[in-house]
Amino acid sequence: RWQHFLFLLYTVVSESESAKTQNSKRNFPDDFRFGAATAAYQIEGGWNTDGKTESIWDHLTHTNPCAIEDCTNGDVAADSYHLYKRDVEMLRELGLDYYRFSLSWPRILPTGFPDKINKAGVQYYNNLIDELLKYNIEPVVTIYHWDMPQKLQKMGGWTNPYIIDWYTDYAGVAFELFGKKVKKWITINEPYQICDYGYGNKLLANFFNSTGVADYLCAKNVLLAHAKAYHVYDKKYRPNQGGTIFISLSAQYYDYEFKEFKDAAKDANDFTWAIYSYPIFSKYGDFPSSVKERVKAKSIQQGFPRSRLPELTPTEIETIRGSSDYFGLNHYFTFYVYRNESLKGLYPSPSTSDDLEVATYHKEERKGGRMKIGALGFYKLLTKIRNDYDNPPVIITENGFTTKRGLDDDDRVTFLRLYINAMLDAIDDGSDIRSYTVWTMMDNFEWLRGFTVHYGLYEVDFESPERTRTPRKSAFVYKQIVRTRELDW
Ligand code: NOJ
Repeated sequence: RWQHFLFLLYTVVSESESAKTQNSKRNFPDDFRFGAATAAYQIEGGWNTDGKTESIWDHLTHTNPCAIEDCTNGDVAADSYHLYKRDVEMLRELGLDYYRFSLSWPRILPTGFPDKINKAGVQYYNNLIDELLKYNIEPVVTIYHWDMPQKLQKMGGWTNPYIIDWYTDYAGVAFELFGKKVKKWITINEPYQICDYGYGNKLLANFFNSTGVADYLCAKNVLLAHAKAYHVYDKKYRPNQGGTIFISLSAQYYDYEFKEFKDAAKDANDFTWAIYSYPIFSKYGDFPSSVKERVKAKSIQQGFPRSRLPELTPTEIETIRGSSDYFGLNHYFTFYVYRNESLKGLYPSPSTSDDLEVATYHKEERKGGRMKIGALGFYKLLTKIRNDYDNPPVIITENGFTTKRGLDDDDRVTFLRLYINAMLDAIDDGSDIRSYTVWTMMDNFEWLRGFTVHYGLYEVDFESPERTRTPRKSAFVYKQIVRTRELDW
């Protein structure tokens, strides 16, 4: 009988426990904001319309079409150059607080320089911004999201130190033209991808391949270009325009399963994102010492007279340190890393980088338990940012998931719920996270993968000339979270 009683007691308690977990609602901080993101080349189309000139992506896709998985390009993409009103309508349907989009440099400055400003291009962005403001949706504007004018690329692009001034002049034009209406600026999107993929290993335009040299030159120039634009805004425009300005870094989380790879995981985090965040957000303002030491040692070993990693002078360090109002974070994956020859081949598709000398396995992004590990990685990453950089204000500028075509995107729903929940855990622990942005509002041109993968809350019919946009299940779920300011958990 007493066993029976205990069993009954256990059932009552455990049921009420599970009822509690099933029905609990999680809230967001009072001023928390929600948005969705896109980027010019991925959605606009109109690649040569109304005076726009060639970007590195036009150039790559036109001269080497099958560099892209499906041999496509962004010539028309989602045709947002013509359909921006529909885009704003979608943001209204979702009830979002802001829209993160980017400006196309060669649409605004056809030569790359401010000597000629393309009125039609400026008009397009004014129309979009006005349409957003009409409905009280805040424009969050990325100044550079990968579509460098081809003319500037021919002059060395991000490897030429003059880019620091070219970029700053372009950013100045943007502040001048749109700064009365735009109060949140993102200088540069994902330096690591720009430099490592664009100049190091041919994973993005401009398809240059000089690992361990050009990518590091690019890294230094990107940091300085960002910082210089920050200071121009801070001194010349902020006093009247009163906005904020920051950088978006892509940080994937590198974790370890076995203690012996703790250092490998640290190196992976250092080489892929702390190389940018440390100079900007730490009190030291330089590249992480692990990166400096390893690259120097390797360079000498390889017969170079000096480190391939350029140095930052004390003045440069001073310029870069503290040059971002928020930690803009793009996050997608958690990986496990290892560094051990004997394990090679044991794990699927390891990736290695010359200086980094680690390999990764397990992209923690797919279904069930694995996705949970990914969300835990996101939480650990947010915790690391809080601890390493004295709790900076964070804006999650991208987070998202790919699914097959179709409107029933249950996996994306699971992903968003898990990741938003992980973010709330970090907030509960004290992380200062101000807003969350889904990548992406609608399907678009996914760089080297073309139209083969779909990240959108809205599906776009790329077969139809109208580029019809239809909400997926995830759009309704996200809308509900945004409307109620609650996550059912
Ligand atoms: C990062 C980039 O900023 C964006 O352009 C890209 O489409 C997404 N991640 C997804 O890969």
